[in-house]
Amino acid sequence: MRLGIISALHEEQHGLVEAMQGAATALHGGRVYTLGKLWGIDAVCVLSRIGKVAGAVTATLLVEKFGVTHILFTGVAGAGDRSIAVGDIVVADALVQHDMDASPLFPRFQVPLTGLAHFPSDHTMSMQLLAAAHGFLEHDLADVIDAEQRATFGLQQPRVHRGLIASGDQFMNEINAIDALNAALPGLVAVEMEGAAVAQVCYELGIPCAVIRTISDNANEEAATDFLAFVSAVASKYAFYIVRRYCEGGMESR
Ligand code: ADE
Repeated sequence: MRLGIISALHEEQHGLVEAMQGAATALHGGRVYTLGKLWGIDAVCVLSRIGKVAGAVTATLLVEKFGVTHILFTGVAGAGDRSIAVGDIVVADALVQHDMDASPLFPRFQVPLTGLAHFPSDHTMSMQLLAAAHGFLEHDLADVIDAEQRATFGLQQPRVHRGLIASGDQFMNEINAIDALNAALPGLVAVEMEGAAVAQVCYELGIPCAVIRTISDNANEEAATDFLAFVSAVASKYAFYIVRRYCEGGMESR
């Protein structure tokens, strides 16, 4: 078993490469793939950059060139529902490409000729990620993010959610657009720009995958400002400690 770990941006994966034992790097297609052991797990870390094509090609190469058997995407996302707050954690149970629309030839959101709009995540991986996320919030958060920063970002009682994540080649920053997407996609918890493309590749290649995201903004008119501040100050802490808990859990039974 070999775990591929993808994030779009450096800050979303900060510290993982440094934590790798016996790390070796390979440059391919303009990306650096770092291979090594992460808390006992054989792993390959890579930054995809932003967008669905970037996510898809990175996932494909992880499988076809670097031999990964499982893929984990970790990063940030905008809230997909008004009940979800900055600092909450979402774990995908399915992913959809919200900008896919070949109607009237195919139903809105359906990826033509696959018969699918929603691509599933792996149940076992997702359950273990949920446990890691709860563990992080209960045991690590207060130690690794100081009180001042928790107050700045309003991280009072962050929660963990499971649900639908929607991906598209747009940074969403209009509350009306998010409300409309939320109405069109029941169970929507977050919006981002890569996860559903990775999930489609994994589905087609028969590779289990999971996506975990920390909410960085409300995908409203303030999203860009909130996103930049959150990503540089907080996102890396969430990613590092959640992935550590996930790997230390051993990925057993896979
Ligand atoms: N990633 C983080 N915030 C986002 C947003 N508002 N839209 C798309 N992707 C995001």
